Amino acid sequence: MATKNIRLEVMQAIEPKVQDYMDSFLIPVEDIWQPSDFLPDPQGDKFLDEVEQLREESKELGYDFWVTMVADTITEEALPTYESWLMDVEGINQHAEEETGWAKWVRAWTAEENRHGDVLNKYLYLSGRVNMREMEVSTQHLLADGFDIGTDRDPYKNFVYTSFQELATNISHKRVGQMAKKKGNALLGKMCTIIAGDEMRHHLAYREFVKTILEHDPNGMIMAFAHMMKMKIVMPAHFLRESGGTIGTAFENFSNCAQRLGVYTSQDYIEILQKLNAYWDIENLRSLNDEAEKARDYLVKLPARLERIAERMKFPEDQYQFKWVEANGTL
Ligand SMILES: [Fe+2]
Ligand SMILES: [Fe+2]
Repeated sequence: MATKNIRLEVMQAIEPKVQDYMDSFLIPVEDIWQPSDFLPDPQGDKFLDEVEQLREESKELGYDFWVTMVADTITEEALPTYESWLMDVEGINQHAEEETGWAKWVRAWTAEENRHGDVLNKYLYLSGRVNMREMEVSTQHLLADGFDIGTDRDPYKNFVYTSFQELATNISHKRVGQMAKKKGNALLGKMCTIIAGDEMRHHLAYREFVKTILEHDPNGMIMAFAHMMKMKIVMPAHFLRESGGTIGTAFENFSNCAQRLGVYTSQDYIEILQKLNAYWDIENLRSLNDEAEKARDYLVKLPARLERIAERMKFPEDQYQFKWVEANGTL
């Protein structure tokens, strides 16, 4: 019980700063980009020509690329799961008499994130490259299946998770954007790059939350970080499935696809950990209790250990045939 009370106290102590975090890391609704800024304007005279161009440009991209796009889109579209999960975290109280900074943060973050699935879904619909119905069934399944990222209702564990995950999505959207651009698809390149920019701002915010918690409760925070890394950070779509499939089966196949394409690899996982270790200055944390010291030493050594494991890892080269995309990347 005592641990829980400390977490609540820390969350309350940081609360007055949350508005500053929002000002620094989020963009006001009226100023931020919207999906319509990128997509063909259905009210414009050139709509059909623009759609035609979008469809032409998307023909250059292959099977693994579209599978990755579909899975990225579904992951973004499962946002209701993430919002409801975060709202339930200890210290984030949406039912407080006076609106709390934390609940406001979660809503504003959700509102920014929601644009990602929106713009990607509309793009995929117009591109004609994917089986929309199959994608929609997977999205509905994922929302219905929920997720379990192993963070419980603990704010410390959840903020480690989001610090990690936002950087992972920054990397993967950025790489997808670069690939699209390389293949002459400037529009998709721009879209993915700007989504990656949002993810980066979110990452910077969450890593700041953790940094501030470390100042208040270094022992509890570092133990939570080590706990998350011991369990491994699972991706939010780890329950992903296709129509008729069992829970989680599509996720592994998609991960292999992303690894093969170089969009998100085990090396990226290690580099994210290194960046978090460095920003939180884990190595130099002192005056810890015995258990927290052990956690610190574990975290400092972990990147090298994961490097050794990654060297031995093998990924299937064979393409798994998803229902979302035709074998040759076209329909
Ligand atoms: Fe996102
Ligand atoms: Fe995100």
